[in-house]
Amino acid sequence: MRVLGIESSCDETGVALYDSELGLLGHELYSQIDVHSEYGGVVPELASRDHVRKLIPLIDKLLKDCKSEQQVDAVAYTEGPGLVGALMVGACAGRALAYAWKVPAIGVHHMEGHLLAPLLEDNAPEFPFVALLVSGGHTQLVQVEAIGKYQLLGESLDDAAGEAFDKAAKMMDLDYPGGPHIARLAELGQAGRFKFPRPMCDRPGLDFSFSGLKTFTLNTVEANKQENGLPDDQCCADIAHAFQEAVVDTLVIKCRRALEACSYQRLVIAGGVSANSRLREKLEAALAKMGASVFYARPELCTDNGAMIAFAGYQRLAAGQQSDLSVQVKARWPMQELTPLEVQA
Ligand code: KG4
Ligand code: ZN
Repeated sequence: MRVLGIESSCDETGVALYDSELGLLGHELYSQIDVHSEYGGVVPELASRDHVRKLIPLIDKLLKDCKSEQQVDAVAYTEGPGLVGALMVGACAGRALAYAWKVPAIGVHHMEGHLLAPLLEDNAPEFPFVALLVSGGHTQLVQVEAIGKYQLLGESLDDAAGEAFDKAAKMMDLDYPGGPHIARLAELGQAGRFKFPRPMCDRPGLDFSFSGLKTFTLNTVEANKQENGLPDDQCCADIAHAFQEAVVDTLVIKCRRALEACSYQRLVIAGGVSANSRLREKLEAALAKMGASVFYARPELCTDNGAMIAFAGYQRLAAGQQSDLSVQVKARWPMQELTPLEVQA
C-alpha cells in the first residue's frame, strides 16, 4: 500500500510517500520559519495562509519526483493536536484528494506520528518501550505496549522542553525556533561557569516543570547583561551550555526512572528536541549503564514532517481503520483516546 502523508499542524508543511513494501519513497518539507521569525513565534493566521500556498505544489513535486502520480492507495493527514486553521488546510486537501482519487483517507494524531517515526529507521525498536515525546508543545513520558496502547506516565506541568529552549533562545536574542541555536551555542560554552537547577528531580514522580528553569535563565541573563542589553558572546554560550545541561539531565533522570518503573529496556525519543545531540549522547551513556537502549529517528524525521504521518496512517489503515467524509480537526487530543491497534506484521 502506498500512502501519501500530509502534515500541517503548525509551521511546517510536510508531505511524504510511504510504501509498505519499499519503505519511505520520498518526503518534502517547507518550513515557514522566515514567515514567523520577525514575530518571535508562530502566528496562526499566517501559518494557515502559507499552508494554502505551499501544500499542493509540494504534493505535486513529491509525486513527480517519486514517479507516483497514478499510484496513491490512501491519504493520511494530521487531524490534531495543533493549530485549527493550519490543520484544516492539510485535512481538507487530504480528504478532497482521497475523494477525487477514490481511495481511503485517515486522520492521524500528530504525537502518534512523532512516536512511531523511529520505526521508519533500520534500527527500529521492538515493542514494548517507553517513549519520551519532546516537542515544542509537549513533554510526555508514555508507556507503549503496542501501536495505540499508550499510557501516560508523566508530562510537563507547564512549558514543554522545546518551548523552554525557544524561550531561553529569545532571551539571548537568538532566532526562532531556538533549540538548534541554543545547541550550537552550547558547544562553545564553558562547563561549570553556571549551575542551573534540575527541576523536580529531588522528588519521586515522572512529571516535569520547566518554568522555574526559564526564570533562572532570565535572571542569569539579566545579571550578566552589558550596555547593549545582552551578556557578551562567551557568557551567552556559557548560559546556553548550562541551560542545555539542565534540561538534558532532567530528561535523562526521568527517562531512567520511567524505564525502571515499567521494567522495560527500550526507550524511544521523538519530537523536535530528540534531534538534540547532547540529549542522545547523555541518554546513550546513562542507559548503557542499566543495560537499556535508546532509539530515535534521523534528525529530519524528529521535527515535524510528512513521513511520520504517512507511516502512522499506514499502520491504522492496514488494521482496517479509515476516516469518513466529514473533515474533523482537533486543537487538543489526548493520545490515550486513540484506539488500540495490534502490531501489524
Ligand atoms: O516536533 P517539533 O518540530 O514541533 C512540534 O510538534 O512542536 O518540535 C519543535 C521544537 C522547537 O521547540 C525547537 O526549538 C525544538 O523542537 N528543537 C530542538 C532542536 N531541534 C528542534 N531543541 C533542542 N535541540 C535541537 N537540536
Ligand atoms: Zn511536532
